[in-house]
Amino acid sequence: MTPETATTEKVTYDPLDSKVTDHPYPHYAQLREIAPVHYVESMNGYVISRWDDVMAVLQDGKTFSSAQFWPELLGEYDPVPEVAPMISLDPPGHVRIRRLANKAFVPGKVNKMGDKIRRVANELIDDIVDRHGDEGEFDFVWEFTALFPVTVIADVLGVDLAQREDFKHWVDALLSAGNRAAYDQDRLDGIAEASKDIRAYFEKVFDQRSANPGEDLISGFIQAEVDGQKLTRSEVLNMAILLLIGGVETTTNLLGISFTHMKRIGNIQEKLRADPELIGPFVEEMLRYDGPVQMLFRHTTRAVEMHGVTIPANTLVMPLLGAANHDDRKYDNAEQFELDRKPKEMMSFGQGPHFCLGFYLSRMEARLAIETLLERFEVLEPLTGEPKWMESYFARGPKGLPVRFKIRG
Ligand code: HEM
Repeated sequence: MTPETATTEKVTYDPLDSKVTDHPYPHYAQLREIAPVHYVESMNGYVISRWDDVMAVLQDGKTFSSAQFWPELLGEYDPVPEVAPMISLDPPGHVRIRRLANKAFVPGKVNKMGDKIRRVANELIDDIVDRHGDEGEFDFVWEFTALFPVTVIADVLGVDLAQREDFKHWVDALLSAGNRAAYDQDRLDGIAEASKDIRAYFEKVFDQRSANPGEDLISGFIQAEVDGQKLTRSEVLNMAILLLIGGVETTTNLLGISFTHMKRIGNIQEKLRADPELIGPFVEEMLRYDGPVQMLFRHTTRAVEMHGVTIPANTLVMPLLGAANHDDRKYDNAEQFELDRKPKEMMSFGQGPHFCLGFYLSRMEARLAIETLLERFEVLEPLTGEPKWMESYFARGPKGLPVRFKIRG
């Protein structure tokens, strides 16, 4: 029996089709218009696309549980399958771990990282000049964006800078596990390898920090007690991997997306150079316009009716953050990038109990990175208008971004 849909017109959205995920917005528009609650056969779940509905789903954690988030995304490639990470916990387990992790990312602590964030950006630019001279070409993703956030939080997470590039390879492979149903055995073996490597890496870090605790977050988690109990080894490993996936890949992608679109938005670099105060509003609108996280996963704890469609209990529901961010019921001219929009609300960091822990840090990182890049480079321009996008319906960002550059004299 085919599950109910709100319409008989053919819906084109399929998250497993890379032609769709490379350019998802026209497909989202169709969903919002004709099938705001739509059953996707390839995922055996329902996508939700309008702003109000996405908001309702994310704020009602009782009806729309997060417990299957990680298993849904990573399947058998979860590096720490024996326990659920914070993002995949419902209350009360969620609240207990969230409170602990929150402490590291409150604005008071993050604001103290400003000088360091600028220094990291400047050092990466110095390395680029050392390698390529004062003008030429380089890959912006692999030589800047993939290294920048991981370096910023390396000492928070206790990770080894010599292995910075491995992190992006591992995380890209892990995130592509969402598309596992469409992959051949070679691809699947690659994901399994990355999953093994990432776990082995953090097992090593756990042993080092247990023997020699430092000021970093992993040492903090190892020593912390919640309700009189220490976190288990698996809980600590899971937290480290979640912060790596959540905190590094997303900010990398925000910067990659920003420079990809700069080429298309007329004179934007000139405007931002002339008035760096506009970089904050630029980042906010870019997050709304093309955010690094396109969808989330929830499961119904009971049958729910929305827009005349009955979603059965125990069923996958996928709120489409990117679709909600382009809903013209919420924003005027929603499909357009408007520098002076200053969106008061956006869906890019989620909503409700799992609202992003790194909301403050990531926006500050992006702002300071763009400020430093535009100060140091007279020219920094993608060679192509259309990058190769990551193979993921969950995370969005360019896989690589060759740019032409000239350093300011
Ligand atoms: C532009 C950058 C970022 C974007 C777009 C983003 C997006 C998101 C979204 C959409 C969620 C909600 C998940 C859900 O409701 O199921 C989330 C949660 C989370 N994010 Fe971020 N994130 C970003 C940066 C960061 C950073 C820098 C960190 C950490 C350093 C981080 C750590 C987390 C964690 C730990 C959660 C889970 C929170 C919980 O379950 O309570 N994120 N993020």
